[in-house]
Amino acid sequence: MTQLATIVLAAGKGTRMKSATPKVLHDVCGRPLIDHVLDVAHQVGSLKTCVVLGHGIAKVQQRLPKGVLTVEQKQLLGTGDAVKTAGKFLKSFKGDILILCGDTPLLKAETIKALINRHRSTKAVATILTAVVDNKTGYGRIIRNNSAKVVAIREENDCTESEKDIREINSGVFCFNANMLFENLNKIKVNSRKGEYYLTDLVELFAAQRSVIETVTTPEPAEGLGVNTREDLAVCAAIMRKRILKQLMLSGVTITDPLTTMIDSHVKIGEDTVIKPFTVIEHDVVIGKNCVIGPFAHLRPGTRIDDTVEIGNFAEVSRSTVGTGTFMKHFSFLGDAMVGRNVNIGAGTVTANFDGKDKNRTVIGDGAFIGSDSILVAPVKVGKKAMTGAGSVVTKGKVIPDGKIFVGMPARLVPGPAGGTSRKAL
Ligand code: UD1
Ligand code: CA
Repeated sequence: MTQLATIVLAAGKGTRMKSATPKVLHDVCGRPLIDHVLDVAHQVGSLKTCVVLGHGIAKVQQRLPKGVLTVEQKQLLGTGDAVKTAGKFLKSFKGDILILCGDTPLLKAETIKALINRHRSTKAVATILTAVVDNKTGYGRIIRNNSAKVVAIREENDCTESEKDIREINSGVFCFNANMLFENLNKIKVNSRKGEYYLTDLVELFAAQRSVIETVTTPEPAEGLGVNTREDLAVCAAIMRKRILKQLMLSGVTITDPLTTMIDSHVKIGEDTVIKPFTVIEHDVVIGKNCVIGPFAHLRPGTRIDDTVEIGNFAEVSRSTVGTGTFMKHFSFLGDAMVGRNVNIGAGTVTANFDGKDKNRTVIGDGAFIGSDSILVAPVKVGKKAMTGAGSVVTKGKVIPDGKIFVGMPARLVPGPAGGTSRKAL
């Protein structure tokens, strides 16, 4: 079987973002742009993936997953030059080379698979992923001859007025025969208007050689969207968010109002859980079945919620686990907490997890009852079926034994006959 390697172009300055952060590190649904692109390369079975970096290289390298090769394009001389730089790793690669741009987060793996299949079944030298869009500003146009064969990709600035009307654009994704790609890259001439070597000029070169050039058009025009500005970033995030919500609803989650619900990528939610309006659930959060989350809840990364949990308005949970049957219905914050089963977190409960230097853990045992407005100054441990009175401040390092009741500021054991009052009722 023919092998596949991927080159991700990500050296560009991202000038139009007007940002100190490299463009491909800007966030879309909880992850940097480039991670979404690398996911696709992985899903289509790329053996080797090489990311071309330049602007902000150190920052990007730091954030890339292990196993991804990077190469530096010292001078940003255009997309053609960028691919040439990756030749350092891939020049002798026998197989197909997939080219992706680091700024197109909406590509779907199945579309790229279709591109690779077409490329192979037609024995093409180059296969271009095109998109038919309404707003074509800034994209290269696909130029076809009278028999509908692709003869060139023309960048907007080089287009004639009538070519500018073409709605079929270059998404920036290609599949190339590796030999032909590296053999012909040296033949591209610099674009005099921009002083760059355009990868897209290869198409005209191949057409002149009468090599087979194929195209696949994205089923959804949005897949080809590239992020150049912050407005594009917001547009892409909105589309991805819609996809995420749709997928969750199809899998059995009720989302009362998709318009006011933001759920990042890689969030898992069990069947029959209801997500109420104005709720934000960040990357990687896992929620069980039959929960009610929101309205106005904020669940942050590192959070695991078991089944039948209720998290209500103005509640924030960060880097915490919450056991089955636990309620946290109003105005509360849990950070770095491990909360057991059937716990009641009273209105206004706060885990004070940050002491100015370190983040500390709070452990709350099964069946505990945290009174309204309790402050738990971590590290703190509340035993099983233990209780805090309303307005208690449980100070740093305290351990409330199982079944005991603590009240006040600082919270103390409620005196009782056998060394403290127990919660017999539970
Ligand atoms: C490019 C395509 C255009 C296509 C569009 C799709 C060219 C000449 N134009 O235009 O046909 O419609 O993408 O989004 O290829 N990059 C480098 N090194 C460089 C220059 C760019 O790595 O020297 C990277 C950028 O980081 C980016 C990608 O290549 O990820 C595309 O570059 P960009 O400047 O965004 O090209 P566009 O003008 O969008
Ligand atoms: Ca672009």
